[in-house]
Amino acid sequence: MVDLHCHILPALDDGAKTIEESLAMAEEAIQDGITHVVATPHACTEYPFDFAKVRAAKDDLQQRLEGRLTLATGCDFHLNHENLMVLKKNPAPYCINQKDYLLVEFNEFSIPPAMDHTLHELQLMGLRPIITHPERNGILRSQPERLQAWVRIGCFVQITAGSLTGVFGQGAQEDAWNWIRQGLVHFVSSDGHNTGRRPVKLGFALEAIADKHGSAVAQSLLVDNPRAAFHGEALPYTPELAATVDRRKRKRFFFF
Ligand SMILES: [Fe+2]
Repeated sequence: MVDLHCHILPALDDGAKTIEESLAMAEEAIQDGITHVVATPHACTEYPFDFAKVRAAKDDLQQRLEGRLTLATGCDFHLNHENLMVLKKNPAPYCINQKDYLLVEFNEFSIPPAMDHTLHELQLMGLRPIITHPERNGILRSQPERLQAWVRIGCFVQITAGSLTGVFGQGAQEDAWNWIRQGLVHFVSSDGHNTGRRPVKLGFALEAIADKHGSAVAQSLLVDNPRAAFHGEALPYTPELAATVDRRKRKRFFFF
């Protein structure tokens, strides 16, 4: 399996704290049947992205793993104005394996309508945006039609493996499964942060998806599609998008 999203490099963000923890995460990944991992530290205000540092940390970990796991770098790109300005100058360092797929993370509190245009702008730059774990974003869960519209214009969607088993709550779990069924999902990744609650493991998701949707779909979401993105190639599997997405009745939250 190929993991496109994880925080395995040490002391760069809220993922691995030490090189020992990185190595333990890598061992778990290898045992789980993962062959390729893209190290994607956050690129946001709290954790500014420094490509030289990221690359050096990846090279060090790669050397210690002696070819037992293939590493590349990318980032968990927080989509805001400042970040976008920097990206425009030189996008490759931020992209998966320095090709053209870019993991894009949204704010949990507001996603202005202008974001629709921003995603298109990224595409005009030659990038292929991948929306990361929308099932864990309250705004997107309450407006799945926006996600659907982004997929229609050629964006991709990655969900977190743990969401499928309820690690991020029942709502995220239900939407993750709904969206696979409705053809909105292109990748399942670990978003691993540690060896505890958020490990670099995908085997359980491969099995669970194979049980519900067949092994061909599972293989596409966890092996073939992420492998293509790793190499900057077109995806071999693009699911058929349902005509409409379910908009479940949800509790309304009022902010004062
Ligand atoms: Fe992440």
